[in-house]
Amino acid sequence: MRCTKIRTEQFEFNIKKIDNWILNIDKIKSGKFIRDELKVGNTPIVRLENIDTNNLELYAKIEWLNPFGSIKDRAAYWMIKIAEDKGILNKNKTVIEPTSGNMGIALACISMSLGYKFTAVIPQAVSEETKNLIRLLGAELLETSDDLCPRVGKGTDQCIALAKGIVNSFPNEYFMPNQYENEANFLAHYNGTGPEIFNQMNGNIDYFITGIGTGGTVTGVGAYLKERKDVKIIAAQPQPNHHIQGLRNLQESDKPAILSKRFHVIDDIFTISDEEAFRAVRLIAEKEKLLVGPSSGAVLAAALKLEEKGLKGKAVLIFADDALKYSSVYRQFKVLDEETLRSLEELISLQKVN
Ligand SMILES: Cc1ncc(COP(=O)(O)O)c(C=O)c1O
Repeated sequence: MRCTKIRTEQFEFNIKKIDNWILNIDKIKSGKFIRDELKVGNTPIVRLENIDTNNLELYAKIEWLNPFGSIKDRAAYWMIKIAEDKGILNKNKTVIEPTSGNMGIALACISMSLGYKFTAVIPQAVSEETKNLIRLLGAELLETSDDLCPRVGKGTDQCIALAKGIVNSFPNEYFMPNQYENEANFLAHYNGTGPEIFNQMNGNIDYFITGIGTGGTVTGVGAYLKERKDVKIIAAQPQPNHHIQGLRNLQESDKPAILSKRFHVIDDIFTISDEEAFRAVRLIAEKEKLLVGPSSGAVLAAALKLEEKGLKGKAVLIFADDALKYSSVYRQFKVLDEETLRSLEELISLQKVN
């Protein structure tokens, strides 16, 4: 892949905001983060005006501005909050969850700031940056040989099986939010992300495009928007055997229960190759000066496929996280230049979060 030089000073907006969630992690580690600061959502939508499209206006919801840097903060917060309210989670229990990364960071931060212990069951293939962050937050990490995303079904879902096995053996000691089955994951988006998008766009939205991990985002936002108007809901799925952390390919993996329940809200699914996703990451960096994670690239690549079909209107895209956790992946696939990668690594360096 071509790798032209991108100067880091061009990314002021993004870098400054990226700092936000790293600083929150720092605060949590030093015990200065208070419950009131746990507010998730109300993230901005920005128009992507420099990416050339003929008929489609592109808007991105910037989800790394959640307190711990990704869209998963929303589901994590609501799964914990509802469990506390129902009395299922109490201070004697450890929170345990199978995760490909972002949910692990979100739950580690929320658990630590609320005084719960946290164990993440995580595929080995997840980036070292992500694993380090979760370890730094004092969480226990159990690694399995799964691919990037816990697969659900098919006999390869070691992360999910291991977490479930531990909870079943020690039900009084562990609480597993289980993002793959927990209705709070759907509700976080149905009550939060969906209404935010509809209001921020003043109802002027024709397409909603996101990746599928658990399916919480696509079904929650999709169901809310479709109740209001005929918005087309588009999902981006990565190629089989992909490198897009957080997303799943539905041929490789059974549908999570949360996705199966409302699969009908999805109008179309585009399969995106690693190369298409990484090319889109570069395009977003060069044209919009935003340093995004791989799944945002996959989502833009899906939007560009819609555009190729000649479709018109306003499309809102989910940019689930930023580039901070992916410098090793971006170096391996030559997505960003060395200087940009080094400045990302500096921002997320151990000194900063120690
Ligand atoms: C980077 C990233 N993008 C998108 C998603 C998809 O979110 P959902 O689980 O709501 O389908 C995830 C989920 O893990 C993710 O980590």
